[in-house]
This record gives sequence, structure tokens and C-alpha cells, in this order.
Amino acid sequence: MIIVPVELADRSYDVIVGDGALAEIGSLLPPQSRRAAIVTQSEIGIEIDAGLEQRVFEIGQGESAKTLSTIGDLCSAFAQWGLTRNDVVIGLGGGVVTDVAGFAAASYHRGISVVHAATSLLGQVDAAIGGKTGVNLPEGKNLVGAFWQPAGVVCDTATLATLPEREFRAGLGEIAKYHFLGGGRLDDEQLPERVAACVRIKAEVVASDEREGGRRAILNYGHTLGHALEIEGAFDLRHGEAVAIGVIYAAEVAHRLGRIDAAAVTEHRRVIAEYGLDSELPAGTNTDRVLGLFSRDKKALDDVTMVLDGPNGVETVVGPDPQVLRDALEAMVAQR
Ligand code: GLY
Repeated sequence: MIIVPVELADRSYDVIVGDGALAEIGSLLPPQSRRAAIVTQSEIGIEIDAGLEQRVFEIGQGESAKTLSTIGDLCSAFAQWGLTRNDVVIGLGGGVVTDVAGFAAASYHRGISVVHAATSLLGQVDAAIGGKTGVNLPEGKNLVGAFWQPAGVVCDTATLATLPEREFRAGLGEIAKYHFLGGGRLDDEQLPERVAACVRIKAEVVASDEREGGRRAILNYGHTLGHALEIEGAFDLRHGEAVAIGVIYAAEVAHRLGRIDAAAVTEHRRVIAEYGLDSELPAGTNTDRVLGLFSRDKKALDDVTMVLDGPNGVETVVGPDPQVLRDALEAMVAQR
């Protein structure tokens, strides 16, 4: 097993990565816990033995389960079972489960311990690590939540073998992002080492900026266009697929701004292609609508903040030239 520490003073914890890592979950549970509330979804289909008195609490499928009413229902069910502040919640599943389980744990009894067992690639390299928890509102995604660090995270790479092929590939979009956050040639690694390398990068970034005062935003590399394509809703794109296209767009913007050379753009395209991901915009992308989604002011592009590669590596850039944002997007539309 590979153990990656997330160094956050008295809230530090370990992420255990490897084939069969789920068997290690007991070592991460707080010693005082008597009961474990396992939050999962029926489709996950994985059973764990926490080594404590345990009960399974299922939430609904998909992103639509990320609501305040799910949190209310879970907390009521915890109370009816008699879960106490000294017990533990285990989030067993992908990003939806760990976001919901984490937020329920952050809220129940004003906060009880949570341990995540991430079973999706996206969850293992991103969602389960770093303490961001929350749910959606009709007004937008992840608008209500809390920073609530887990007591530990298990990334059992054996659980990825049964993921639907498309879901696995979509997770590779998030891994592709880490190539440019200091990961280097991650595609040369075996899966557990590759996951651990991403976790190491995320752990270091989170340790340096837990509450996203600044640097943590680099984890959103590729997300400006990626989120816009997801919000547009007209395309059948998974999060990681949208991020992959967003990474290419970010490289094109950085090149046009003179921040990176053509070879670096080629390397971005190579990595995305290596993972079998599409780097082209979906057919029917409406440039104006997508650009409008970049900005809080839907009619102007002056307040956009992007994460861009450059001479100092990937960093946040406030107010990139709006014409460059438009030109790079129009060029990608024309390339289709
Ligand atoms: N998913 C980005 C972050 O955890 O900050």
C-alpha cells in the first residue's frame, strides 16, 4: 500500500492507495468510535467491514442526490439509529457520495468524524481528498457546504476494475490535469502509483492552502471551459471529459497570451489523446453562450479568472484578455 499524508497540523490524515486498500479502512477510524454509519448508493455494490457496529444508509443516484433534503434525511436517519458525536461516518462511493457524506458529517452534532472510501477514479484523485463537502441548490452546484477534513481516505484501485469504461475514462480527464500540476509523465506509471502521484500533488496543494485563499485554485485547471460546457447542459459530457477539453482550451489561451510555446500545447494534446479523451469541442458549441458562462457578468469577460500554464507553471491569472478568450474558443470551434 502507498500511504500519502495530508499535512494539516492537528487535522492531518493519511490517504491509503493500492489494490485491496479497503481492507485497511479500520486503521483510519477514530479509536473512540463505536459505530460506523456507511453512506453509499445501491449502484456502488461494495460491502465493507468497518470492524465496528455498522449500518448502511443509501442515498439516491447521481448528482440529483446532492441536495439539502438528502442531508436532512441522512441526519434524521443517523439520529434514529442513535449515532453519537464520538462515532464515525464512512462515505463509500464516488464524488457525490463523499460530498454528501462529508457534509452530513460536518453538520451532524456540529461535526463528527468521516472517513472516505473512494470507489471512482475521480473520487480517488480529487473529490475525496481535501475536505470540500457540499450539496447543490437549484441556483447552482456546490453552493452549500463546508470544509470538513476526513480522518482518513482509502483509494482501493481494485474497485476501479468494475467501473463502466466511460466513467473510468472520464476520471482520466482529472488525472490529465495533474500532468501539468507537476505530475510529469504520469501515463508511464501503473494505476496505483498514478493515483498516488495525483493524491500527493493534491495533498501538497491542500496543505499549502486548505481554504482556497489562492493556490488551491490551480486544482481547477481546465475547469473554466469545462464547467461552462457542463452548465450549458446541451452536451452529453461527463465532468472529466469536459475538463479534458478545458485543459486544451487553457493551453491554447496560454499560448496566445505568450505564456507557453507551441510544444507545450502539443504536449497538452498528447496527454489528452493518450488517455483516449476528446480534445474537440462538442458539435453545436455556441461561442457566445459559453463565453457568457465564464464570467459573473454574463455580458462582459472582464472579471474572468483562469488557471493557466506559464513560465512559473500553472497559476491563477486574473482578467486574461477577453479577445484572446474569444479567439481561442472560436479557433477550437473552427477546428471541428
Ligand atoms: N476539486 C478541487 C478542490 O478540491 O479544490
